[in-house]
Amino acid sequence: MNLKSLIRDIPDFPKPGILFRDITTLLRDPEGLRYTIDIFTQKCIEAEIKADYIVGMESRGFIFASLLAYKLGSGFIPVRKRGKLPAAVHSIEYELEYGMDCLEVHQDALHPGSRILIVDDLIATGGTAKATAKLVQNIGCELVGFGFIIELRDLQGRKHLPDVPIISLIEY
Ligand code: PRP
Ligand code: HPA
Repeated sequence: MNLKSLIRDIPDFPKPGILFRDITTLLRDPEGLRYTIDIFTQKCIEAEIKADYIVGMESRGFIFASLLAYKLGSGFIPVRKRGKLPAAVHSIEYELEYGMDCLEVHQDALHPGSRILIVDDLIATGGTAKATAKLVQNIGCELVGFGFIIELRDLQGRKHLPDVPIISLIEY
């Protein structure tokens, strides 16, 4: 199946000059969605990634991380933007193109030694994935890999990530 044909390109979103890769058209396609998750699962198994928990980033990351957690028999843990999680959190600040942002995870969700696979829909600059990796590694978790549906290769996000297996299904 040609997954790229299910991704819609939207010029000038959210800002002029950005070609936005829209995954909603892939999600809407029953065979496309099932195939995406099946291939994602297969790649994790081939890479011998064994995770106790899949950590997914708000908000598009939640969709793929949850489906993958179901398929791999792992738990799902949300990493959210500042102020959204109700219980005590660990936080990490990270740099955006302009200014700073903050990601949070519940303190009681992760423990030292937990094996973690980080999953998001897309890696661009790698800032979000790098910050999430730091967040889980600061707690003493063992990071066992990253998984992305889409990788924007020109932005070289993967070079900012720790040296663990990185799976991506579609490259631009
Ligand atoms: C997008 C995407 C990744 C991140 C990738 O999320 O889903 O999480 O940006 O960019 P980076 O590699 O340069 O950090 P966004 O912050 O737009 O949030 P959303 O999923 O809620 O739309
Ligand atoms: N598409 C979707 N999400 C994104 C992109 C993109 O091109 N860049 C950063 N987040």
